[in-house]
Amino acid sequence: MAFSGPDCPLSKLYRPKLDRLSKEYSRKEVRLLVVSTDDDVFVPLLEPARTTEAFVLDKDGVLRYRGAIDDQYGVGYHRDAATRSYLTDAIDALLAGKQPPVAATEAPGCQVERPHASPAPTKVTFHKDVEPIFQKRCVDCHRPGEIGPFSLLTYAKAKANSQQIKAVVSDRRMPPWHADPKTGEWKNDRHLSDAEIATISSWVAAGAPEGDSRDAPPPRKFVEGWQIGTPDVVYKIPTPQEIPAEGTIPYAYIEVRTDLKEDKWVQAMEVRPGARAVVHHVLVFVRYPAKRRGEETPIDGGLLNGYFGIMVPGESAMVFPEGMGKKLPADARLVFQIHYTATGKAAEDQTSIGLVFAKKPVKHEVTTRGIVNLLIRIPPGAADHEETASYTFDHDAKILSLLPHTHVRGKAFKYVAFHPDGKEEVLLDVPEYDFNWQTCYRYKEPLSVKKGTRIKVFARYDNSKNNPANPDPTKEVRFGKQTWQEMLIGYVDFVRD
Ligand code: HEC
Repeated sequence: MAFSGPDCPLSKLYRPKLDRLSKEYSRKEVRLLVVSTDDDVFVPLLEPARTTEAFVLDKDGVLRYRGAIDDQYGVGYHRDAATRSYLTDAIDALLAGKQPPVAATEAPGCQVERPHASPAPTKVTFHKDVEPIFQKRCVDCHRPGEIGPFSLLTYAKAKANSQQIKAVVSDRRMPPWHADPKTGEWKNDRHLSDAEIATISSWVAAGAPEGDSRDAPPPRKFVEGWQIGTPDVVYKIPTPQEIPAEGTIPYAYIEVRTDLKEDKWVQAMEVRPGARAVVHHVLVFVRYPAKRRGEETPIDGGLLNGYFGIMVPGESAMVFPEGMGKKLPADARLVFQIHYTATGKAAEDQTSIGLVFAKKPVKHEVTTRGIVNLLIRIPPGAADHEETASYTFDHDAKILSLLPHTHVRGKAFKYVAFHPDGKEEVLLDVPEYDFNWQTCYRYKEPLSVKKGTRIKVFARYDNSKNNPANPDPTKEVRFGKQTWQEMLIGYVDFVRD
């Protein structure tokens, strides 16, 4: 008997596999039941802890195995294939008249929601206290048509997932935000304060009471369609991409010709996925025509020069302040780097980018530089290996944003400025880097730096077998654009003063 949660991403991802196993084993006199975690007969009987937990009962009804289906998927990682197949090993052993090799494991997934035996008394209610927090910090992603696995616009869904919500906000896994709040002031900061976490926790401990709908904050308004207004041009990737239901998907690199007759200044841009659920994030690079490649801002030795724009969960539009813009040269090509993720359902995607050209003269070109180290070498098995890279400004500048970038072995990232007067300043500290969220940290107020300021970035990597996202801990890893290689890029968006 395998449990499955209707709102849990890991449950959805395991669903096609369970359906396959169910067919396969029906021939061998095994009955595999997939049971929803809101079922009120089997849930109290077996008390699954997590939404992907499976139970194997023998022909006499004796419990012989409980736990994970296998080790292919977990919180924050997807493997190409499972390395351990706990569930089928257990069934096969019983069919052969033996005991399962492993009797119990911990299943990944979301908490199975249970009624509270004795709710703690509190005055905290959904509409009065919790809904304002969800509106501010969650619904950019958790609403219909966005990437979050369920909507937090309504009480019903919030209550149905309340215990998992408490778990993820207490761990600070949600909302995704990885910078140490002590450094920098960011426009897009979405981390919860300790007080907000305490409010959510006491609401859940009280049994998630709804309260009076008259206390609810006014509903948030969302713009339908393009957030940047009607774009002047839209470029769409030429062929639809088929995204499988399961497994891991290598980064897709897709080129689009712009056929622009003259150089343009871009004031706003927005990346729109065709199939929102499977497009985790998109980086767009601009490639100058062959005879002008020398004008590209160097980023990483030519692999991916010309970082142009990005779409990450919860943030699809980029609008530059008046008088600032990004240059798009005539006859350029745009290269889309798309990170697709499987969700348990096959999909077809055709992502596009919309651009609004500046209507007024642009005085300041927004330049993106990658502070990069192409010579990184991460030894096999190293659990905490550091690499660095530096860049020195040869002019005064205003920094607009920072975007740390590594692949799956990256575990921490830091930007430090060494000012010409000798002062040392930590600009951004990401103590628990997570490659899943390519967050761009956007300054509330641009940061002024003087000519001669050196920015040094520090990245730390976990190439050990304890990193579940690590595709191969036995290999020395070097720089490269494939997901099994690594990168060390500290992107900096700035304008010349
Ligand atoms: C930037 C987008 C974004 C924001 C903001 C966000 N989430 Fe999520 N959330 C996701 C995505 C995407 C997933 C799917 C799982 C994943 O990719 O890790 C998810 C998954 C979840 C899950 C499912 C459980 C799990 O373990 O994966 C819960 C519960 C959740 N979010 C709660 C919240 C709450 C509560 C907030 C606000 C306080 C919030 N999220 C804010 C994007 C977001």
